[in-house]
Amino acid sequence: MPSAQISPSILSADFANLERDLHKIATADWAHVDVMDNHFVPNLTIGLPVVERLAQVSPVPIDTHLMIADVDRWAPAFAEAGAQSVTFHAEAAQAPVRLARELRRLGARAGLALRPATPIEPFVDLLAEVDMVLIMTVEPGFGGQSFIEGTLPKIRRTREAVSAAGLDVWVQVDGGVSRSTIERAADAGADVFVAGSAVYGADDVPAEIETLRALASA
Ligand code: DX5
Ligand code: ZN
Repeated sequence: MPSAQISPSILSADFANLERDLHKIATADWAHVDVMDNHFVPNLTIGLPVVERLAQVSPVPIDTHLMIADVDRWAPAFAEAGAQSVTFHAEAAQAPVRLARELRRLGARAGLALRPATPIEPFVDLLAEVDMVLIMTVEPGFGGQSFIEGTLPKIRRTREAVSAAGLDVWVQVDGGVSRSTIERAADAGADVFVAGSAVYGADDVPAEIETLRALASA
């Protein structure tokens, strides 16, 4: 199995030192940036101008996770701002195929995210239109929550649907990913792992990234 990819979430970084904290994760594969609007989720984080500057200074590509309403209108601007991956929620998009095509046309990878209670089955026919499916393993909105074990069968069904269609679509998991949960998520078929508190809460951030990658690749 190819080496697992790690995408640390800067939601757990020091917001007064984002450039410094991006450099702490220079050995990761991506920097995961959580955009929240206090409508789609009950929290408010950062927006387009900040993402644009982060993309200019980040040592790793930017993986944006848009937890926002009216995403059809806003998502393309994140690709134009320099995000190499733009993930929007299935529950928020009005026209997910059109949106995914627009993101790809702008040169970004397109991701489709599902809240824990949203099934994959209605979206199986859309898999060919995206580069990644994000299975939320907590309710989106906050870092530091516990991994929802009940999402494991959906990770497995998503991986099976991708394989059955013969596609090269990544399966990302986000929420409660740590040393104690990452192996189960990998075993179910995930290959891109978001971790916020586990990475930024570690004393040695590069060592934690390596440990998580090794556990997920075993
Ligand atoms: C939650 C965000 C996550 C969050 C994960 O809505 O999408 O990316 O930062 O944090 P941890 O890894 O601490 O659960
Ligand atoms: Zn996220």
